[in-house]
Amino acid sequence: MGGNRRVRISVRHLQKTFAQGAREVVAVADATFDVGEKEFVALIGPSGCGKSTVLNMIAGLVTPTRGVALVDGEPVMGPRPEVGYLFQQDTVFPWRTVAKNIGLGLEYRGVPGAERAAAVTAMIRTAGLEGFEEAFPATLSGGMRQRVALMRTLIVEPEILLMDEPFGALDTHTKLDLQRELLDLWWRTQQTVLFVTHDLGESITLSDRIIVCTRRPSRIKAIFEVDLPRPRDVIALRETVEYAQIYQTVWHTLGEEFAAGHRAREAGQP
Ligand SMILES: Nc1ncnc2c1ncn2[C@@H]1O[C@H](COP(=O)(O)OP(=O)(O)OP(=O)(O)O)[C@@H](O)[C@H]1O
Ligand SMILES: [Mg+2]
Repeated sequence: MGGNRRVRISVRHLQKTFAQGAREVVAVADATFDVGEKEFVALIGPSGCGKSTVLNMIAGLVTPTRGVALVDGEPVMGPRPEVGYLFQQDTVFPWRTVAKNIGLGLEYRGVPGAERAAAVTAMIRTAGLEGFEEAFPATLSGGMRQRVALMRTLIVEPEILLMDEPFGALDTHTKLDLQRELLDLWWRTQQTVLFVTHDLGESITLSDRIIVCTRRPSRIKAIFEVDLPRPRDVIALRETVEYAQIYQTVWHTLGEEFAAGHRAREAGQP
């Protein structure tokens, strides 16, 4: 981790085994890493390697079988107000308008109507969703829905943000747009972010460090520093030699896991 940053998230020998009928699935075998104050860290690895499970344990939604997740040095016992979580699935409520979806967290916290409305208006402007305040999610594009979900998480100003493949299902263009918006926001708010993705380009574009997990049962395979200057231009960055160099280095490590997964499937292992 760069410099002498305060550690905000810390996981130590985290392990999670799920019972699936008669058999046991080791989702996470051993995860140990830190995320420092204001750091943007990406967690990347093959599908099913336990990335969401790691986030769920940090968020206090899943109890570890072994090991511990700490936020600000305290073992996580349940959801905490300073931790925001953007789930992997589309989590916008279909029966609420855009404005009411975005304002939900403030409503839960009992923020008065006028104050809430002002905050929602500001978020809608940031998200470029003006004119859609009263629209229902079903009438929006996938990218717009993801913006609503993002703004709903950000409006409560979480100091720590867990994001689980928030742009996974989007086309390249929309993805780049949202990456740019996220980087702008993060540059201003300086949150601590742990961002799960299986898109290597996305992880390089956004993060300060990339944690690569092995395929299931997952361990931490390697951690790479992304020493690219900020602020970053999400499009121009991809044309630089430095980007290509990091891409190649991490790809080599990640590719080993994909290849091993392929060999295992060919051999008939789950
Ligand atoms: N609640 C659960 N009960 C039983 N098994 C589970 C549960 N949650 C996850 N698993 C299993 O744990 C393993 C890891 O799942 P997880 O969702 O954490 O992976 P992931 O890395 O996020 O995958 P993806 O990239 O596809 O989202 C999988 O084999 C999954 O079947
Ligand atoms: Mg997942």
